[in-house]
Amino acid sequence: MLTQTISAFMTSHHKECDEQFAQAEESVANGDWTLGSKQWQAFSAELEKHFTREETILFPEFEEQTGMTGGPTQMMRMEHEQMRALVNEINTASENKDKDHFLALTETLMITMQQHNMKEEQILYPMTDQSLSNAVAIVDKMKRN
Ligand SMILES: [Fe+2]
Ligand SMILES: [Fe+2]
Repeated sequence: MLTQTISAFMTSHHKECDEQFAQAEESVANGDWTLGSKQWQAFSAELEKHFTREETILFPEFEEQTGMTGGPTQMMRMEHEQMRALVNEINTASENKDKDHFLALTETLMITMQQHNMKEEQILYPMTDQSLSNAVAIVDKMKRN
């Protein structure tokens, strides 16, 4: 099997999530709630999977091996909570088929997500690749999660 860095693996998962997000947004913008709400659910499940990989596998490993428990990972966890709150609001907008509200909230989520992902891709993931002795095993563990 091809070995991947944490950066490469997680960055490509960000892209997958971004693509699913864009599909849902486009369908809703076109007024197709049947497809749009399905795509939205698929996206939010994938996003939650991503957050869970970070919060239960990657971040604890980083915190344990570097002793940095109050720094970047704490900030990332807080931002995950902000995004989860937005996702919940968007779920409600989706249930109500409230297109304007849905699109306003997804715009906010997109900006938040872009800034968050950029920090991870440019700072945190490279730090994990450099500091974790078992990066390959961690990628494998996240793939199975
Ligand atoms: Fe994250
Ligand atoms: Fe991430």
